[in-house]
Amino acid sequence: MGFEYREGELYCDGLRIKTVATEVQTPFYLYSYETLTSAYESYKEAFSKIDTLICYAAKANSNLAILNVLAQKGSGIDVVSGGELFKALKAGFPPQKIVFNGNGKTRQEIEYALENDLLMINVDSINELLVLNQIANQKTKKARIAIRVNPDVNPITHHYIATGLAKSKFGVNIHEVKDVYLQASKLENIEIKGIHCHVGSQIIQANLYGEVLQKVIKLTEGLREIGISIEYINLGGGLGIRYHDEDVPTIQSFSEMILPHMINTNYKLILEPGRSIVGETGILVTRINYIKKGFHKYFVVVDAAMNDLIRPAFYKSYHRILPVVEHNMEDEGLTTDIVGPICEDGDFFAHERLIPKPEEGDLLAILDTGAYGFAMSSNYNMRPRTAEVMVINGKYHIIRKRESYEDLINKEVIPEGLA
Ligand code: LLP
Repeated sequence: MGFEYREGELYCDGLRIKTVATEVQTPFYLYSYETLTSAYESYKEAFSKIDTLICYAAKANSNLAILNVLAQKGSGIDVVSGGELFKALKAGFPPQKIVFNGNGKTRQEIEYALENDLLMINVDSINELLVLNQIANQKTKKARIAIRVNPDVNPITHHYIATGLAKSKFGVNIHEVKDVYLQASKLENIEIKGIHCHVGSQIIQANLYGEVLQKVIKLTEGLREIGISIEYINLGGGLGIRYHDEDVPTIQSFSEMILPHMINTNYKLILEPGRSIVGETGILVTRINYIKKGFHKYFVVVDAAMNDLIRPAFYKSYHRILPVVEHNMEDEGLTTDIVGPICEDGDFFAHERLIPKPEEGDLLAILDTGAYGFAMSSNYNMRPRTAEVMVINGKYHIIRKRESYEDLINKEVIPEGLA
């Protein structure tokens, strides 16, 4: 079911969104359980021919309920901080299905990861490898690792989220990685399990993954020649979704780029999809407070803002925006900016967008915001974070309460003695 119109009204998994908006108040994120689980199942099915662990990238949306749904479905998880590891464990992921990524893990985070015997830690540099070995030694543990290789490929995506270029900060240069593996193989407290790479996010070129995988397999063969065997190939995440009218590979066609290279090998595959699992699962529901005419154009001022969804401001990203209740559909519509109440110009969701003629009080749905929506939200302008709501079998559940004004101050302290 997911999100669909029924007689001119938008529904989520069979539930009328307008009703949720009246009861919960706006703005709020609304997630479809069905869309979430079916995205995960699509991955499982598409990769069922080979031994594959889907490690959902927690950073895309780390709400405990979302994590719990995926854990229950059998997913693994990719975490990039102590906080994400904490939430993954709380949500019920078994440590043997957790991989720890990141280019700047602290000593505390490494200790935390080792204490929990994770599937593996993806090492980003020789320096980190040495620190890891030393901490593992102190703890009399063996650290299972993969090394993140930077394959120097150029995906067509926003430059902030292309991560496998020679100039990017991630991973070990592909020309040096063999040497780092050799050093790793000599370290007492390190056990080599895999190789990792992640070349970027919102990738929509069908052939890129095949290209990367070929590079990685060639590398692992070179490693075998020097006596280093690799059990897992981790291709990271990054598969794009359709935000506008892009031509995007399906999960099935994505698997068809990968499987032919893997099928006759003994490697196990790890994938770390984030956006392609939760992106289409969520919408941001917001209410129009004002419709105002500026010098040259209209502004529809809604009650959500860039603190709730920063992607348009940050990446100039496009999100479809639909009326929750269709009306005035026979009218020619209004071309307008859709903006929030925050005091800066970057606070917009769309520029010069044609929408069905809006009225003050109408509800709008900002689509495909399940990934990197709430996850990147803040309290900027002292706006309490929105509620998050999930529809399961036609019933809605608050999975994160709306923050209160008290929440805005409860960590802050005025030092005693200040006049
Ligand atoms: N694995 C690693 C090592 C990553 O760095 C990432 C994302 C993923 C997996 C998941 O990638 P996905 O499948 O979601 O594309 N805030 C940006 C996206 C940043 C992605 C960072 N890394 C956005 O809103 O578009």
